[in-house]
Amino acid sequence: MSLLKDRLKEMVVADRHYPGEREAQVIAICSQKGGVGKTTTAVNLGTTLAESHGLKVLVVDLDPQGHVEKSLGAVIPEGLEYTPISAVLLDRRGDILDAVIRSDLENFYLTPGDKSLSDAENSLATKIGKEFILKNALRTARTHFDYILFDCPPSMGNLTVNALVAAQHVLVPCEMSVLAFEGVSDLIDTLSQINERLNPDLDVLGVLFTRVDGRNLQMNELIAENMKKYFNGQIFDTRIAINTALNKAQLDGEPIFTFDRSSTGSLNYGSLAEEFITRSNKLAGKNTRAKVRVAKSAS
Ligand SMILES: Nc1ncnc2c1ncn2[C@@H]1O[C@H](COP(=O)(O)OP(=O)(O)O)[C@@H](O)[C@H]1O
Ligand SMILES: [Mg+2]
Repeated sequence: MSLLKDRLKEMVVADRHYPGEREAQVIAICSQKGGVGKTTTAVNLGTTLAESHGLKVLVVDLDPQGHVEKSLGAVIPEGLEYTPISAVLLDRRGDILDAVIRSDLENFYLTPGDKSLSDAENSLATKIGKEFILKNALRTARTHFDYILFDCPPSMGNLTVNALVAAQHVLVPCEMSVLAFEGVSDLIDTLSQINERLNPDLDVLGVLFTRVDGRNLQMNELIAENMKKYFNGQIFDTRIAINTALNKAQLDGEPIFTFDRSSTGSLNYGSLAEEFITRSNKLAGKNTRAKVRVAKSAS
């Protein structure tokens, strides 16, 4: 091959709008409740998939609070150029790749925080085909990553609906409390409507117990038993314990494994990454239409 052709190839590969050769699995991390560990999970699951498994991962921050960037500030190089994600979503030909930046961690990419997402939430309401905007903006990005994770806002607005339409799977973080059960039931009900009306491929990847207080052994098991009755097979075996290292890592802007690799939080997210890969690969191969409905009819 001539030098010229080699150079051309290099340029084309470097052009991020050119389709890649991967086929991403797209997962929305979703709960209407705030403070249940959505961002902690998006950040630590995403970085663990990239670091320990060599998978190419993109975390898309759809919450105007921009906590993904804050949680990873220490591993984001300065001065990277990007278009705010709200601008991408409001542009008819928007491509999410314009909003993506790389981190210092190999294989890990993210969209930075964008306060204007709260305006976008309202502006999207007037757009034709408003539920499909994120899905369309993701078309090329899907070919560049192995996993794309959405960190959703704590509400069922236009941004979350866009995430659920663009995703194949939903991961539902949930605390081990009696009230959490109600929240998950409501969410599963919404998911089944999205499944029927907007996204027939949507499936529940799993409910993930987060911030689990190991001292409440009896209560935890009672809640887990109850949940299993309704969401059979849809509960992750891995549980994320309460661990202050997770809190501190977030404050320091680092993934848990660089902050403290031997912490419980790091071990928990390590196990989650393995279970996550197994579950998502299992679901990706089959038609999963019935699954959300089964969960709904059981409730
Ligand atoms: N397993 C955990 N142990 C201790 N603190 C946690 C854990 N998971 C999350 N947190 C803390 O709880 C707060 C809320 O978590 P976050 O992931 O931001 O929730 P959400 O994105 O659902 O609002 C954050 O301060 C975070 O550091
Ligand atoms: Mg959050």
